[in-house]
Amino acid sequence: MEEVKLINDDGLRLDGRAFNEMRPIRITTGVVDNADGSAYIEWGANKIVVAVYVREAYPKHAQNIDKAIVKARYNMAGFSVEERKRPGPDRRTMEISKLISEALESAIMVERLPRAEIDVYIEVLEADAGTRIASLTAASVAVADAGIPMKDLPVGCTAGKANGKVVLDLSKDEDNYGDADIPMAILPKSGKIILLQLDGDVSEQELEEAMEMMLGAMKNISRIQREALMNRYMIEDGE
Ligand code: CDP
Repeated sequence: MEEVKLINDDGLRLDGRAFNEMRPIRITTGVVDNADGSAYIEWGANKIVVAVYVREAYPKHAQNIDKAIVKARYNMAGFSVEERKRPGPDRRTMEISKLISEALESAIMVERLPRAEIDVYIEVLEADAGTRIASLTAASVAVADAGIPMKDLPVGCTAGKANGKVVLDLSKDEDNYGDADIPMAILPKSGKIILLQLDGDVSEQELEEAMEMMLGAMKNISRIQREALMNRYMIEDGE
């Protein structure tokens, strides 16, 4: 297959970004009134809503008497992608739901909520590559917004390789026609990696370069997450 040109002669990507430049990210909380916690993220052209509900697990025999069960459900709206997505769970959707459930569970103090179930509904309204990471990043904020005790606020980023060059935060074209896609998420306080996938071919050195770039970007994304929570809960000074 002929290589698709994803980086121009000035070293810029199709959307004009430099190799280490992120798409803009905006997060708001408290967007779903009937949820215990919620968040909305725009990450480039991705648009995702997350609503979190905490309840006693049901039926009773499904309860864990030692800890809460964390169930994330990632769903793409039929209109979220160019070719209408068939409704309902498929393999990819189930895999992403599981990854996000496990990543969130590593940050939630599940032992503080025995017998509970934490339902995290993720609705992708528009998808433009990197939705699993954008979903997890927003889900962390929604879980915190629900007042659920957490050790840390999971944060993620994606990097990859396009036309042989390591690039940060893959666009849809780079995801489709690039050489590799590497989503990653961490617990920022401890630096523990809670999600890392690699689809494609990279050398050890390229992987290191990609991880270094993502870790740098995640510092900013963490700040955006914390600001979203503060904006909701800070009482403004003034008259
Ligand atoms: O979204 P993410 O990068 O985490 O997952 P992916 O499986 O690598 O998918 C990359 C992108 O392909 C998605 O973000 C969507 O934009 C697109 N996609 C699609 O158009 N139709 C699907 N059924 C699944 C994904």
